[in-house]
Amino acid sequence: MLTHNDDVDWDRWPVADYLAENYQELHPSDAEVIVHHSAFYRRLAPGGVARSVEFGAGPNLYPLILASAASRHVDAVEAGAGNVAYLQRQIVCGPDANWLPFHALCRHLNPAVPRTLARSLAQVHVVHADVRDLERGGYELASMHFVAEGATEDFAEFADFCRAFARCVVPGGHLVAAFMENMPTYRIGPTSRWPGCPVNPETVTEVFAPLTRELSVTHVDPDPTLPAYGDSGMVLLTAVAADGRG
Ligand SMILES: C[S@@+](CC[C@H](N)C(=O)[O-])C[C@H]1O[C@@H](n2cnc3c(N)ncnc32)[C@H](O)[C@@H]1O
Repeated sequence: MLTHNDDVDWDRWPVADYLAENYQELHPSDAEVIVHHSAFYRRLAPGGVARSVEFGAGPNLYPLILASAASRHVDAVEAGAGNVAYLQRQIVCGPDANWLPFHALCRHLNPAVPRTLARSLAQVHVVHADVRDLERGGYELASMHFVAEGATEDFAEFADFCRAFARCVVPGGHLVAAFMENMPTYRIGPTSRWPGCPVNPETVTEVFAPLTRELSVTHVDPDPTLPAYGDSGMVLLTAVAADGRG
């Protein structure tokens, strides 16, 4: 039996273990994501996007920092209560020091990123919601990091999440995303088990080609400094949302 999104209690997401395993330091593969995404954001006018969304934000601040170069209002939409509380604390009480090297790299690669980490988060609004409930066409830009393939074991549901992601922007809206490649169901910390749906550049292209134009899909090699979750690296995407996405 495949695990689906509604089978999982996302409020039980192990925030501290996940942060310790993935974001306590800046790992080379995340640096590659930041280099890739910064090239995308540099093509946009500073502050030129009125509303953007980070789709399934988790406790990850670097996508929000990247978006701060272009976006005047970022909704960080997340289902898990622990992740929501973490994000709100980072904005209200000040961000943890582990995020400083992420901010420094983002700003080095794109001077339109605000000068301080706190200012980069100032336009972020944390939204405790299910990404599948986002209205169509509500944003000019959407970003997603390790969500559709980490939200289900079912490829059909993975594709549904990708469609919801592509449809939450207006036609002509910007899409930028990162996926774990060939990620199976995996563990965080000593015991907790989380769904994974193996995807690769070909399957990501197959899902997004009918939804987008100017689609670019690239691969990042596995990162030996990250936990061995069973993945084979990452898949990175940029695209423009097409008209008539069904
Ligand atoms: C593998 S984590 C990735 C977190 C974060 N984006 C990152 O870059 O580290 C998957 C995230 O998707 C969130 N999620 C899963 N299903 C969701 C849903 N239906 N609506 C909103 N968030 C969801 C989880 O709570 C979790 O934070």
